[in-house]
Amino acid sequence: MDLMDARETSPTQGRFPAGRLAFPHRDLTGIAQLQRHEILYLLDQAEQWVALNRQRTKHTDLLAGLTIINAFFENSTRTLLSFEIAGKRLGADVVNMHAAQSSVKKGETLIDTAITLNAMRADAIVIRHGSSGATGLIADKVDCPVLNAGDGSHEHPTQGLLDALTLRHALAERGEGAEDFTGLNIVICGDILHSRVARSNILCLTAMGANVRVCAPPALMPTGIEAMGVEVFHRFDDALDGAEVVMMLRLQSERMSGQFIPSPREYRHLYGLTAKRLALAAPGALVMHPGPMNRGVEIDSEIADLEGRSLITRQVEMGVAIRMACLDILTREARGVAGWAA
Ligand code: NCD
Repeated sequence: MDLMDARETSPTQGRFPAGRLAFPHRDLTGIAQLQRHEILYLLDQAEQWVALNRQRTKHTDLLAGLTIINAFFENSTRTLLSFEIAGKRLGADVVNMHAAQSSVKKGETLIDTAITLNAMRADAIVIRHGSSGATGLIADKVDCPVLNAGDGSHEHPTQGLLDALTLRHALAERGEGAEDFTGLNIVICGDILHSRVARSNILCLTAMGANVRVCAPPALMPTGIEAMGVEVFHRFDDALDGAEVVMMLRLQSERMSGQFIPSPREYRHLYGLTAKRLALAAPGALVMHPGPMNRGVEIDSEIADLEGRSLITRQVEMGVAIRMACLDILTREARGVAGWAA
């Protein structure tokens, strides 16, 4: 299938408002800013890129001539690489700025860095930063779209979207596909307190109709999280009962000051996803993890690699397609695509 075929068979046509009304945002700072139909639009748009990425020649010139800057102030493997691949497959010039080698180490403020990137006339800036809200701050200072690749413990919107796309594909392959996740029981277990992945996933999955349960030791559960429309558990075995999807999270030790868990061994004993525990979930329950994994702590190797049940590598695949969809949509105004002027 070539790109044109993929576009013509896109399920998007006719289901969403025309032009910019389908996605009237300049930036992607969080899932919290998105309506349900905007999330569905992004997922549908990503399908053409899933198809392209499965071909031998994975390239289009859609963003030719545009410059995308990936400014990463925190470590990353999957997210940085997939944003870079996404931009390149769309034909843009992609530049990566690593904070460790930049003037940030010389004390430059975030705002000055933003002004510098803006002066270089970037057409989109992708930011990862350790402070919650950093992306929003930069978005206010620059003239181009800003995409949040993770800001502190706040949000990681493309992760939430790629997880939804992964789940939609997996359910469709089982013949259980539907437009959204109405009635699906999903457990998110781990360091909910520090996890931007948890926040973006809770927002995305509840907007799509899922019943979301969160599970963590009391010290790693944010107070008042029930207000996000989730059910709170502290015993993993109870949370797993009837769960069709189990999403595991890494302990974000870099965001912890002081001791939040007794020991990794004790943590695995109470909150690790083992074969015995997975048997408590619904038959055939699917397993997800955003990576990087600490095998033998929050998830056992045999579960992480469980054929037909673990979606972990599929999540990585879908990450590239979602990021291509986001970069395409957010640069349509700059590219003068009909119907996309602000
Ligand atoms: C996550 C992140 O950086 O927030 N990783 C990712 O983007 N795939 C999760 C984590 O670091 O644990």
